[in-house]
Amino acid sequence: MKTLVIGTGGREHALARALARDPGVTEVHAAPGNPGMAVVATLHDVDPLDGPAVAALAASLGVDLVVVGPEAPLVAGVADAVRTAGIAAFGPTAEAARLEGSKAFAKEVMDAAGVPTARALVCTTPEEAAAALDELGAPYVVKDDGLAAGKGVVVTSDRGEALTHAELCLSAGGERVVVEEYLDGPEVSVFAVTDGTTVRPLQAAQDFKRIHDGDRGPNTGGMGAYTPLPWASPGLADEVFATVLQPTVAELARRGTPFVGLVYAGLALTSRGLRVVEFNARFGDPETQPLLALLESPLGELLMAAATGRLASVPAPVFADGAAVAVVLASRGYPASSSSGDVITGVDVANSLPGVQVVHAGTALRDGALVTAGGRVLAVVGTGPDVAAARAAAYAGVACISYDGAQFRTDIAADR
Ligand code: AMP
Ligand code: GLY
Repeated sequence: MKTLVIGTGGREHALARALARDPGVTEVHAAPGNPGMAVVATLHDVDPLDGPAVAALAASLGVDLVVVGPEAPLVAGVADAVRTAGIAAFGPTAEAARLEGSKAFAKEVMDAAGVPTARALVCTTPEEAAAALDELGAPYVVKDDGLAAGKGVVVTSDRGEALTHAELCLSAGGERVVVEEYLDGPEVSVFAVTDGTTVRPLQAAQDFKRIHDGDRGPNTGGMGAYTPLPWASPGLADEVFATVLQPTVAELARRGTPFVGLVYAGLALTSRGLRVVEFNARFGDPETQPLLALLESPLGELLMAAATGRLASVPAPVFADGAAVAVVLASRGYPASSSSGDVITGVDVANSLPGVQVVHAGTALRDGALVTAGGRVLAVVGTGPDVAAARAAAYAGVACISYDGAQFRTDIAADR
């Protein structure tokens, strides 16, 4: 099987690596890719948001399966364009990707499917938003309706700050802002591969969204992740499957917009039971890095079966015993901004450590040197017999790497 991965981030590097490990996969291509992916894949230049261009590239390479990594191409209909060209695509249609692309749509699907989630009020004016804040009370949760790379959400006890964010979302061209009930309790991520009917959950992971230690500072795309969750109930993935994933996938099929790809359920384990915080329509980043580091069963076979409606006919994914931890290294200024062009050293040394793999996200080559080229630059993944060992491996890798302005958390998966 020949495969093409679309995207440039750490998630895509992890996907390309896991595909390359699958004995059934003969070629891995990636576009646009990154310098880390070049080790396991042949890179091609393409605008990842241009569906016809991606489909044309896939056809010219003769690939059997296109795996679309990020949300933006999915929402732009890139998977649709690939399928229209007669090539299998792992990734939902633009319509089904609204599960992530529109928080209001996701709420509507959850309502219809009876999926537990935070109570939410969709507002179109600052006056409505103000009334919604008063109705739901503090702490306030205000969300941009559209895609915002995890940065469109403000959670605050300050009503003025909440209202300002709502006004900002509405004035920045958005038509709707969502004001939501606050959910307490730890957050977990459960992913499932689906062909639109059959749903195969992966083991639960946890992501660290804030930029600073102790969950302080602004939200980011994710500063680290680990799996499995030794503190969680062993039945968690099954419960999420039964109460969230299966009903959501069934509701999307019932509406005539079956979801083919990866459903990402971001959940809060509240004192009143589990609640969906958000859905994403793609593998999470960085959770995918530790998850795929432990995946033992063939990824290409799994994704191809989902893309072609045969998921029920392949075995459920199998994960190695033990644990994996990913620590993200970001560049100066992230998440408000990012810096680029800083020379990165120590990646090879880190990669040579036992149980350590460095995943590239925002990197580039300049005159033969590896340099920073984005907000999240690298993820160092450690594996080991338990979370503590995996964490020690990851941080041993982090200690080898340096560049100007590097930011990372020191408490990823601590005390877990
Ligand atoms: P989202 O963009 O919906 O994923 O939200 C980003 C982050 O904001 C989540 O991972 C949570 O940490 C936080 N968040 C979102 N919604 C809520 C909520 N209803 N209650 C508490 N925290 C939330
Ligand atoms: N790790 C959060 C996300 O992928 O959205």
